[in-house]
Amino acid sequence: MLHDLRISGARVVTADGVSEIDIGIKDGLISELSTDVGQAKRTLDASGLYALPGGIDSHVHISQPSGPGVVMADDFNSATLSALHGGNTTVLPFCLSESGQNLREAVDAYHAKARGNCHIDVSFHLIINQVDSQTLGQHLPALLEAGHTSFKVFMTYPEMRLTDREILDVMAVAKRHGAMVMVHAENEDAIDFLRDEAEHEGRIAPLHHATTRPIPVEREATHRAISLAEVAGVPLTIVHVSNGESLEEIRRARNRGSVVHAETCPQYLTLTAQDLDRSGFEGAKYVCSPPPRDSQNQDACWAGLEQGDFELYSSDHCPFVYDSSEGKKAAGAERTFRHIPNGIPGVETRLPILFSEGVNKGRIDIARFAELTATNHAKLYGLYPRKGVIAVGSDADITLWDPDKETTISQSMLHHGSDYTPWEGFSVTGWPVTTLLRGRLMIDQGELVDETRPGQHLVRGVPGNPV
Ligand code: URP
Ligand code: ZN
Ligand code: ZN
Repeated sequence: MLHDLRISGARVVTADGVSEIDIGIKDGLISELSTDVGQAKRTLDASGLYALPGGIDSHVHISQPSGPGVVMADDFNSATLSALHGGNTTVLPFCLSESGQNLREAVDAYHAKARGNCHIDVSFHLIINQVDSQTLGQHLPALLEAGHTSFKVFMTYPEMRLTDREILDVMAVAKRHGAMVMVHAENEDAIDFLRDEAEHEGRIAPLHHATTRPIPVEREATHRAISLAEVAGVPLTIVHVSNGESLEEIRRARNRGSVVHAETCPQYLTLTAQDLDRSGFEGAKYVCSPPPRDSQNQDACWAGLEQGDFELYSSDHCPFVYDSSEGKKAAGAERTFRHIPNGIPGVETRLPILFSEGVNKGRIDIARFAELTATNHAKLYGLYPRKGVIAVGSDADITLWDPDKETTISQSMLHHGSDYTPWEGFSVTGWPVTTLLRGRLMIDQGELVDETRPGQHLVRGVPGNPV
């Protein structure tokens, strides 16, 4: 066979381990993996580099409605460009209905926003914030059957949270259709109580976003979400787990036979609540939910990654401009932490942070890196084996990593729409230098070489089990 492209000389990370083989690519697919790949129209010399499956970030927020006067910093163009520069080839953003919009209309609107604007492939999770007979009986089943096979429910945020009964009703639909329920686990009533107390006592600085969302708030909701899933008889995914006590709830549930998947994010491995206490209003740059914790809980999250408790490592990219009345300063810097939009940018820095802090520091091996950043996302969310793995027949989504390249992260080098990065000045070793999307060379030696925005929408299958 005459391949379109041969990648030679790389250490290739496949499901079987790491081997020095060549990769043949034809018609956008991986056509051969061997030490003796046949003739190709072009050869890309990747000596000294790792070839990894293109990153899949299954937790990002793009162009999401964020409340009156607040505008998310990324549209599909800037978010997917930023993701691509960070070594990703697929992202899974959330689709949230604007007020007055039903779920079907919201999905159509997201498709319209994404179409023709994506540098990499996309597929949408749904957010269920309306539990009525039309949503549960018509729109949700139809959308699940059409390949939007996962959705998120919130136990916090006044305008999004569902009651336990509503969560159970939504889980019942997931059970009928084999869909994956993702849960944001924080107890809104407890947060509301603590927030009122803090404001009453004049504790209104950004730091108090963290002090009013302490670990028990997350631990209790994690336990309750798991219990509700056990009642409904469905697997579930707890997203953005920030601490050891919540992880302990997940371990206990697994020990009694429940199917619980877990995700953590770079902010819970590298940032702490002290970052929200930076001078002036700077702490707002770190306001996200759940909030970053402390070094002990960072260690617990690292242990969870090392021991396999976490199957997913995602960014929870949710970007706002800091210095803007449409962003972090929407309500004015003098107002209470309550009004600071929740979320931080991170889609471009997710992979280098784990490569550097995880692989290069010896906490995880390169095969586990591939699972945590691509393979498990594809398996859990119904994209495997088309995505997430370097295997014959899979899409040729491949990222070539220079394991020794030293970079100090700074806002000036990033491509997101935000005006800051929480990791300003953070040094990493290892960087994704060249990325192919379905065999197309997109980034070559760090430069965008294909500006055509060829990203496609992915219809997903039934969620699977990463293990
Ligand atoms: O603060 C965060 N994480 N914002 C994004 C929305 C969410 O809860 O994932
Ligand atoms: Zn969330
Ligand atoms: Zn999120």
